Amino acid sequence: MSSTLHAVFGHPVAHSLSPRIHAAFGAQTGIDVHYTAIDAAPDTFADALAAFADAGGTGANVTLPLKEQAHALASTRSARAERAGAVNTLVRQGEAWHGDNTDGAGLVRDLTERHGLDLRGRRTLLIGAGGAARGVAPALLEAGITELFVVNRTPARADALADALGEPGRVHPRYLEQLGELGEFELIVNSTSAGRGGAFPSLPRSLVGMRTAAVDLSYGEAAVPFLAWARAHECRDAIDGLGMLVEQAAESFELWHDVRPQTAPVFEALRARDASLFTAD
Ligand code: ATR
Repeated sequence: MSSTLHAVFGHPVAHSLSPRIHAAFGAQTGIDVHYTAIDAAPDTFADALAAFADAGGTGANVTLPLKEQAHALASTRSARAERAGAVNTLVRQGEAWHGDNTDGAGLVRDLTERHGLDLRGRRTLLIGAGGAARGVAPALLEAGITELFVVNRTPARADALADALGEPGRVHPRYLEQLGELGEFELIVNSTSAGRGGAFPSLPRSLVGMRTAAVDLSYGEAAVPFLAWARAHECRDAIDGLGMLVEQAAESFELWHDVRPQTAPVFEALRARDASLFTAD
């Protein structure tokens, strides 16, 4: 077997579940996985990635806040990474990095296969316009949602994301203050990092219809404020980002190893662990 060396780069990254997920995929598929977490601030990331390549690194995941930088550092990029303007997966090809983005495919697979949602025809609201939003918006459009409304605390970023998506007939930037006038949505995706400590924006009840699915791209405590809102307003589905995390990891694993791992057992194990976050002890 050829040797492989993988890592996830982020800042902070100590909390990352990716090493555990890839180790589980390796055990399941019989592949010898060496996957570590490397903390790199934006100003040290380029050097850290070069050092990793020198040490024999064959592939990497990239998480907050480095995905746009990874896009710039990749010599070649997949069409979906290009469209997202963000890279979460790097594959060493010769002396260069190839950049891809598996976040959107991971989200769509989680929603359609694990949760059984049909995304086609859903009028969709995307809250937030940062790196996470950029990663998932193209895949949502490709999955057949009808219109995509993008709202963001900083309006210019919503405008920029809508422009980058290049479908002015389907993608509409709007102000957060306009949320009460936008009507009902069948899919509401929270991509903001507000749940990680900031004040969560207040969202009107009028967004919720008969079959609204509310999805937070975060998991654990960061997903609690938005999903609490979704449950309080009786959204039919309230889904956190743990399944997306496992699915995007599986997509990356397949890019590196040419084998598709089974995600269900890994998801169940992480879900059981996650549940302990909410118990009294
Ligand atoms: P990520 O890669 O997680 O998307 P990011 O690029 O820093 O990280 O984007 C964070 C997103 O969360 C942005 O849409 C940000 O809004 P701004 O563009 O106005 O900064 C949004 N966000 C963060 N804290 C927020 C809060 N308290 N209320 C509303 N939006 C918030």
